[in-house]
Amino acid sequence: MATMESLIGLVNKIQRACTVLGDHGGEGMSLWEALPSVAVVGGQSSGKSSVLESVVGRDFLPRGSGIVTRRPLVLQLHKTESGAEYAEFLHAPKKRFTDFAAVRKEIADETDRITGKTKQISNIPIHLSIYSPHVVNLTLIDLPGLTKVAVEGQSESIVEDIENMVRSYVEKPNCIILAISPANQDIATSDAIKLAREVDPTGERTFGVLTKLDLMDKGTNAADVLEGRAYRLQHPWVGIVNRSQADINKNVDMIIARRKEREYFETSPDYGHLANKMGSEYLAKLLSKHLEIVIRQRIPSIIALINKTIDELNAELDRIGRPITADGGAQLYMILELCRAFDRVFKEHLD
Ligand code: GDP
Ligand code: NA
Ligand code: MG
Repeated sequence: MATMESLIGLVNKIQRACTVLGDHGGEGMSLWEALPSVAVVGGQSSGKSSVLESVVGRDFLPRGSGIVTRRPLVLQLHKTESGAEYAEFLHAPKKRFTDFAAVRKEIADETDRITGKTKQISNIPIHLSIYSPHVVNLTLIDLPGLTKVAVEGQSESIVEDIENMVRSYVEKPNCIILAISPANQDIATSDAIKLAREVDPTGERTFGVLTKLDLMDKGTNAADVLEGRAYRLQHPWVGIVNRSQADINKNVDMIIARRKEREYFETSPDYGHLANKMGSEYLAKLLSKHLEIVIRQRIPSIIALINKTIDELNAELDRIGRPITADGGAQLYMILELCRAFDRVFKEHLD
């Protein structure tokens, strides 16, 4: 019997193939939409990119004050057995990045290629795959932050444009929402919680994440939020301490940041009793576990979709005639093969 990890790995491969080839969903729900992904939602500078980086365990995302994330970033994590660690962009498929600082620069440059060096946003996603022995198999989506007002250099409609873009990702029933709220603002004013509640009223696919615990006013703490008394969610809240801007400026690396975060919770008089359910490593595990449950629940409907996709691909291959020499045809075969493998593994899981 295949492991759940290989199953999620297969889901990742199919999602990637769908991205490369265009979606083969035909009418109704597409394959891409049927497969789970995780998106971050929250106000600007609430710590979304920082949380994603911590979940991945690598430094590769542009972060900072103001509007840094200006295009959706669809990030696929693939766990490798070989120990190899590298990144690839869909827009530069021949290039393997082994230096994660260069990945960050490429994200920034690719953002600017569409939007210019402005404060404008674009709906066109950047697709990035990270291969590493240290990641869990997941698709994560980084999104621009929700804002209240347009700043100099932005169109008047930007507030609505961002909200619509974010909503278009998180309203999909397959989307697991990481609702990011900073602890140094009142939870009642959280944009993340507001939007998450709108698209997921029962809270079954929303995970509340509280960042910036280290920046709260002295004498206050967030225990009432973290223990679910201030705002109840179906899943438990997770508190996070990301790197501060000073840490980023000093290039404090991920390993040290994670250790400091762990120490923060273990030694905290306010959260010590919650320490084993806090922090970015715990969040990554929680997400991975949840993803397993979601995939298991969806196995029958995904098998149906896969079979529909196989039929459609076969029809398309018949139409263009086989054998095919062109790249496109080879890619169709690839996705067909993946679908078949997927179907096989899923059926094993039904037993
Ligand atoms: P985003 O705009 O929501 O993607 O937020 P970023 O991840 O870019 O972070 C915005 C700023 O807040 C950066 O300067 C981060 O260093 C800082 N920041 C994020 N999370 C924390 C945290 O938990 N503690 C502290 N001290 N700073 C944080
Ligand atoms: Na920011
Ligand atoms: Mg960001």
